[in-house]
Amino acid sequence: MATVITGAANGLGAATARRFARLGAKLVLGDIDDAGGQALAAALGCEFRHCDVTNEADVEAIVAASVEVYGSLDCMINNAGQLGALGGIGEIPLDAWNRTISVLLTSVFLGTKHAARVMGRGGSIINTASVGGIAPLAPHAYTAAKHGVVGLTRSAASELAVDGIRVNAVAPGSVPSRMTELAYGDVAAMEAVSKARNPLGTIVSADEIAGCFAYLAGPDARNITGQVITVDSGLTDLRLNADYYRKKADYFGRDGVEG
Ligand SMILES: NC(=O)c1ccc[n+]([C@@H]2O[C@H](COP(=O)([O-])OP(=O)(O)OC[C@H]3O[C@@H](n4cnc5c(N)ncnc54)[C@H](O)[C@@H]3O)[C@@H](O)[C@H]2O)c1
Repeated sequence: MATVITGAANGLGAATARRFARLGAKLVLGDIDDAGGQALAAALGCEFRHCDVTNEADVEAIVAASVEVYGSLDCMINNAGQLGALGGIGEIPLDAWNRTISVLLTSVFLGTKHAARVMGRGGSIINTASVGGIAPLAPHAYTAAKHGVVGLTRSAASELAVDGIRVNAVAPGSVPSRMTELAYGDVAAMEAVSKARNPLGTIVSADEIAGCFAYLAGPDARNITGQVITVDSGLTDLRLNADYYRKKADYFGRDGVEG
């Protein structure tokens, strides 16, 4: 399976590259971190291309590289990202807003556009969304962009189904990475917050996200398209009711009998 992964030099992208390499995929890794991307590609025995996902020519070129080197593009993973613009709505400079939307959302448009063009009939496009694409759990621009990723995933899936191209997204909760270090100060702080607020009380790992990508890329997911799989230890859907049941256990006893 010829696969392009953007933002592959670090974090979730690197974990996905390692997982796909173990599964025998033929990989083209893309990133603006050339040193990190080249080192990983050398370790995995695959291709690396410098690819700034905000630059259409770079995105078109990395897709073309898969076709040139491996003869096809079977799976496109639009993963590159950053935390982007921070601050209150009255403070965010327009250029910081535009840059965030460009890295997180326009990149997914470009990756989907060029992947679909070369895939022809059949393929899998998978986008990295976020719990911030489902609920307001992140800074404004990030939240808006990731909600856009969810919308574009569903919209593109509806058009490309006729060509047998599936389009899905994975929405991770907080995963230890450079991005979460920036968001929380350090990984230990992120893990403490996650353990306290996640209904399962667990930390999501990059390798688990990679496993979800692998599932969506594989034959068991051949009837799955237009979906967003949330991997967040129960945070977005269950948090409020889970809190209720935690309290209920204190008041009523774990057997559920009032008294
Ligand atoms: N870590 C989390 O908790 C978490 C949660 C939800 C979603 N995500 C998403 O996962 C994806 C990967 O994030 P991560 O946590 O692995 O962060 P990371 O910082 O470890 O990795 C991001 C990678 O993207 C690359 N990148 C940044 N801008 C780029 C650009 N313009 N062109 C190409 N590459 C670029 C970076 O160089 C880096 O290698 C992002 O889309 C992020 O929004 C992360």
